Amino acid sequence: MPAVVILGAQWGDEGKGKATDQLGSSLDYCVRTSGGNNAGHTIVVNGEKFATHLLPSGILTPGCVSVIANGVVVDPGALFREVDGMNERGVDTSRLVVSSNAHLITSYHTTMDKVTERFLGKNQIGTTGRGIGPAYADKINRTGIRVADLLDEKILRDKVEASLDLKNHILAKVYNRRAITVEEVVEDLLSYVDRLRPMIADTSLLLNRALDDGRTVLFEGAQATMLDVDHGTYPFVTSSNPVAGGACTGSGVGPTRIDRVIGVVKAYTTRVGAGPFPTELFDADGEKLWEVGGEVGVSTGRNRRCGWYDAVVARYAARINGLTEFCLTKLDVLGSWERIPVCVGYQIDGVRHDEMPMTQSEFHHAEPIYEFFDGWQTDISGARTFDELPKNARAYVQALEEMSGAPFWAVGVGPGREQTVVLR
Ligand code: GDP
Ligand code: IMO
Ligand code: MG
Repeated sequence: MPAVVILGAQWGDEGKGKATDQLGSSLDYCVRTSGGNNAGHTIVVNGEKFATHLLPSGILTPGCVSVIANGVVVDPGALFREVDGMNERGVDTSRLVVSSNAHLITSYHTTMDKVTERFLGKNQIGTTGRGIGPAYADKINRTGIRVADLLDEKILRDKVEASLDLKNHILAKVYNRRAITVEEVVEDLLSYVDRLRPMIADTSLLLNRALDDGRTVLFEGAQATMLDVDHGTYPFVTSSNPVAGGACTGSGVGPTRIDRVIGVVKAYTTRVGAGPFPTELFDADGEKLWEVGGEVGVSTGRNRRCGWYDAVVARYAARINGLTEFCLTKLDVLGSWERIPVCVGYQIDGVRHDEMPMTQSEFHHAEPIYEFFDGWQTDISGARTFDELPKNARAYVQALEEMSGAPFWAVGVGPGREQTVVLR
């Protein structure tokens, strides 16, 4: 299985980190291709909990080369805080490689992220405040600073100056904030150069050569399909393409080289931040999903909104990403319900929709149509084979598989590395 993409099929936090770690022992390269330190991926190894943000989860796999590819936005301060944190816990980060073409998040991007959110008031997106949107905006506006720019101080200074000029007008005149000096930005960025230099590489060349040599390369998604800037619930999205196609543009590896595309999907649904969410619950069931599922954000500590499984979203993710399979996670969380609703379609302004509606305003009005499944009301966290799951849990998994548009590869029954039932 040389090239595998793992991505989020809902609104994030599906358990992509654990699914990545699952393939651990067979991994030669683990690659992040989009987003930045807005991600928070949890991996539990022998009961010990690790969180990755900007680092690929493969950092925890001994011998695996971790790659931050061109499509990622890199906050160098956040990067080295994470590297240092890993090193303190005995994790070897010496195989980390960063693309020369990746864009940098600077202090003015995080500042702009926070002030714009505040300015939006009740219309805010609920971003992570990590400067992601402003950094991608500069990339598209062709005023971004790339990792390679750090290697030439003169170019770096010129580019920071050009990029900062307009922002300072906006900061001072619109937001009534202190202007940021070119000097403070350049000085901060240059303080990372010595540590970063040995990691910088042409990662497209590296990865394509690795594939030529038959190595296994895993593209670890961050964020998710419904947060994609093109295919998600715009404008309540992140500013990158977390879908399968983003793994190609974000790495310089062509689509013909990808062998498997695995969509990670929770046995229910969660979302952090603002935006439409048809199956969201505001009752005791929602509270219980939140509590049993431990649904608190890894990056920002915000509570996640919770709701039932949405098969329309799953089918949409299967289509947009060309999924070859799904990895279903957190089935164990549903172990105490007598009856489990699953959204099979939407009622929108009196019309039934079995697929994602064409417009966002329709999606905002979507009322879920539920089918109900009998619960299994028992702890399944010790199951390791499909046959060890109770009959009703098997029936739930099979029903979800039939309505979701791609075969299920594995089912998660707990956060631990070993707590997975592999179906195929
Ligand atoms: P990611 O951002 O997609 O990597 O997901 P997060 O790490 O943000 O959130 C997923 C949470 O669910 C983490 O706390 C994981 O440890 C946990 N998790 C993953 N798979 C399972 C599972 O099958 N069962 C349970 N109970 N927890 C899981
Ligand atoms: P992982 O990889 C869940 C959400 C934010 C906000 C929107 C835009 O752990 O699944 P941004 O800071 O990216 O501009 O915020 O996207 N968001 C996530 N939600 N999981 C994530 O990452 C997320 N990354 C961003 O909450 O609604
Ligand atoms: Mg997460």
